[in-house]
Amino acid sequence: MHQNIPFSTLIRTASHDQHTEAENSGFMTNLLGGALGVDAYTRYTEQLWYVYRALEDSAHALREDPVTGPFIRSDLFRVGEIERDLTHLRGPGWPERISALPATRAYAARVEECARTWSAGYVAHHYTRYLGDLSGGQIIRAKAEKNWGFAHRGDGVRFYVFEGITNPAAFKRDYRALLDAIGVDDLEKQRVIDECNRAFDFNAAVFRALGEETRPAA
Ligand code: HEM
Repeated sequence: MHQNIPFSTLIRTASHDQHTEAENSGFMTNLLGGALGVDAYTRYTEQLWYVYRALEDSAHALREDPVTGPFIRSDLFRVGEIERDLTHLRGPGWPERISALPATRAYAARVEECARTWSAGYVAHHYTRYLGDLSGGQIIRAKAEKNWGFAHRGDGVRFYVFEGITNPAAFKRDYRALLDAIGVDDLEKQRVIDECNRAFDFNAAVFRALGEETRPAA
């Protein structure tokens, strides 16, 4: 592997093109551009619930894992926030009224599989979601507040608000340092990068499925 390039740089660079695609996907463009109603945003938030359940239900068991443990921090956990958002968006009976798209089920199943059988692979999923939420997620939050009238950092967009992380830039620096210090060899690092690419593919598939079921108003 590229001896002198930090792992955090390699993983970011390797997912750069997929990141651009995700940002410019039809669904995201329509959603953030205001072409879709709050239903589409709600449907997206529902899918996130399944993905973060998979990430966070496994997190507790991975705390002691030598590779993954350092990444697990409760100030990142999102399930509670998503549940508050869904209560606001869908009403108190939301758990009986939501469903996972097949693409979401496949994504969540892969996260669970990594958590059970390959902890370094779980790191790829952790990175892809949480570092993205701390970055581009802030753009999504601002647009959502504006498009659908949610209170600033309030119910509906709590998923994007990390109350416990007051300095996201510093947090991301520390996170990258953790990536750089990850205790695996170069071959395994390459596998983690491949898994990160897979994580982006899963997100793209969820966006495609959401795009198919939510069409902009004519
Ligand atoms: C409209 C949608 C999106 C926008 C506007 C956006 C925007 C951004 C921006 C501006 C950054 C750079 C932050 C920085 O350098 O500190 C970033 C980083 C990141 N985004 Fe996104 N993003 C979007 C969607 C996504 C999606 C769907 C994913 C994957 C699920 C994702 C994953 C990431 C990751 C992992 C990083 C961290 C890269 C690194 O520094 O290693 N983003 N995003």
